[in-house]
Amino acid sequence: MIAKTEAACLQDWRKELLVNAYGNVLEVGAGTGANLNFYPDKIKKLIISEPDEFMRKKLLLKLDDSSIKSHEIQSFGMEDIDLPDNSVDCVVSTLVCCSVRSPEESLKQVYRVLKPGGLFLFMEHVAAENNPSRLKWQNRINPIWKRISGNCHTNRETEKYILEAGFKIKQITKASMRKAPAFVRPTIRGIAGK
Ligand SMILES: C[S@@+](CC[C@H](N)C(=O)[O-])C[C@H]1O[C@@H](n2cnc3c(N)ncnc32)[C@H](O)[C@@H]1O
Repeated sequence: MIAKTEAACLQDWRKELLVNAYGNVLEVGAGTGANLNFYPDKIKKLIISEPDEFMRKKLLLKLDDSSIKSHEIQSFGMEDIDLPDNSVDCVVSTLVCCSVRSPEESLKQVYRVLKPGGLFLFMEHVAAENNPSRLKWQNRINPIWKRISGNCHTNRETEKYILEAGFKIKQITKASMRKAPAFVRPTIRGIAGK
């Protein structure tokens, strides 16, 4: 299922988003490294974090094979980013805010570690804010879906949490994630600035 979605849209979206990464970059919830091929040469260092041990092992292998020379792997979650205030130029989160324990706390942490002027690059599936019948369906399926899919919530209002954390949204695209189940199709992706 995810392979079809990757081919239908996610690969293009990752590429388009990550071209904006620069300097010292933190990627949170990196999974097995789906973004690694898309980082531009202008990044100085990649700090990449994944709390799941199994995924982290695969990520490590992929990282060693990648063209990213300066990198550091970490296990902290998005709510507990173990980095100093104002220390990174960019933070990347793709399909992670749906699964964290607390999106509010996670986004506050992202804001904290970004330098003033730094960028948060995001791509997330979200609540169907302009489609009440789909939102109703998302709310109904959420309790089951999060239990069977690693705490992935179908109905998170991630844009609201980004704004509440203090970010200014510089660019946002709302699009349907093709070849995905209807209840996870609404997405947002873009750039928020500190
Ligand atoms: C759907 S996967 C997305 C993986 C990858 N970012 C991508 O774009 O394909 C969700 C990821 O979020 C991670 N995750 C779950 N809870 C997290 C948390 N509290 N903080 C950071 N990452 C978390 C999972 O381990 C998993 O790797």
